[in-house]
Amino acid sequence: MGDISIPFLLAPMAELSHRALRELIETFGGCDEYFTEMISAAALLGGGPFERWYIDGGPRPEKVVFQLVGADIGQICRAVALLDRLECRGIDLNMGCCAPLIRKTGAGIAWMASVDRAGEGVRELRKAVKRRLSVKIRTGFSDDFEYLVKFCRRLEAEGVELITLHPRTAKEKLKRLARWDYVGALRQELRIPVAGNGDIGSAADLINRSKGPCDAVMAGRAAVRQPWIFAEAKWNKETRNLNHGGHGVTRNSWDESLKFPETSSGPTGQHDSMVKNLEYTPMPPDRTPISCSRHTFLNLEDIGLRFLELLARWQPPEFHISRARRFFGFFCDNLQWGNYVKNLLNREETLSGIERAWQGYFREGSEKNLTTEDTEEKKNVFIPSPC
Ligand SMILES: Cc1cc2nc3c(=O)[nH]c(=O)nc-3n(C[C@H](O)[C@H](O)[C@H](O)COP(=O)(O)O)c2cc1C
Repeated sequence: MGDISIPFLLAPMAELSHRALRELIETFGGCDEYFTEMISAAALLGGGPFERWYIDGGPRPEKVVFQLVGADIGQICRAVALLDRLECRGIDLNMGCCAPLIRKTGAGIAWMASVDRAGEGVRELRKAVKRRLSVKIRTGFSDDFEYLVKFCRRLEAEGVELITLHPRTAKEKLKRLARWDYVGALRQELRIPVAGNGDIGSAADLINRSKGPCDAVMAGRAAVRQPWIFAEAKWNKETRNLNHGGHGVTRNSWDESLKFPETSSGPTGQHDSMVKNLEYTPMPPDRTPISCSRHTFLNLEDIGLRFLELLARWQPPEFHISRARRFFGFFCDNLQWGNYVKNLLNREETLSGIERAWQGYFREGSEKNLTTEDTEEKKNVFIPSPC
């Protein structure tokens, strides 16, 4: 069967999938592709004050997929022309967002209401996109697999090269379990690659889902809770010989260079050594290193501080509070008193206030006379040893 790596993708998430999060994930070794949060085609064309932050593809622009959202295909094509000047892996059209504000304009999942409208739109888009063209969809407005197949076959015929399926209906939002059997079943019906998304909660889930049948696994919320999740999965796959997909082959649109290296060949070399040994990527000397006594422990306090630093550097001040709250809304789930900390942080109105509150929580541990062990537990998360 050979060594076949199923790529791991970061999901597009509004207010989360921006440069600061990508920088943090890269600290641990990165993932194969980073979808950006959805970018409004209309706002991009309008030259809004924050657009440059949305289209910042750093730190690994070659792995970035810009996700566009819109209802007017002419507008989307003109936005593509702007993005085309930037380095990126591909362009993705959001055909799955079910937020009423998006859907009501004819964007997001509204595209799934008509095979013809979507097919004609994608035909135009295909002419505009020079890189890989992908779409991200849900099951649809109802749980109708036949319709889903018809819809996807039309997109395939019009030149879409990758479909990411989040197998839930519009109504289900993020409730109920994602129907992963639809990912494999859809893949059977198409020639192009199908990526699966939904409910990945751990590195073990990433590995298990990558056994397929699917061509890539996309994780969203779990990658915010555990920015090291891709590195952990990758390390386990490599060292435990789990480095193959259950169905034997991936399809043709994955760039070989973006798959996991068999040997150290990453951009810096540092990343690979981190992945192989589960050690931390050395930080520049002027920073607090993310480290503690055992290299299999991650210091949550330092990771949170590191994120705040990245946020300050890579997002505009107007975004700092909303993005910090979004991030810690998930990241605090790692803590024993996560909800308490979320409330503490939500009261703060500045990044420095959030930083103080975050550090205060970890100091509080000893003030509350917790045992040293409890305090350590609160501060660190253990990456289970694979051996
Ligand atoms: C806060 C948040 C924002 C999201 N924003 C987007 C988006 O901009 N574009 C998109 O296609 N999906 C978006 N999604 C959906 C995710 O990409 C993904 O499909 C969903 O979270 C399920 O995957 P998960 O269980 O791995 O989180 C968003 C989800 C969340 C939680």
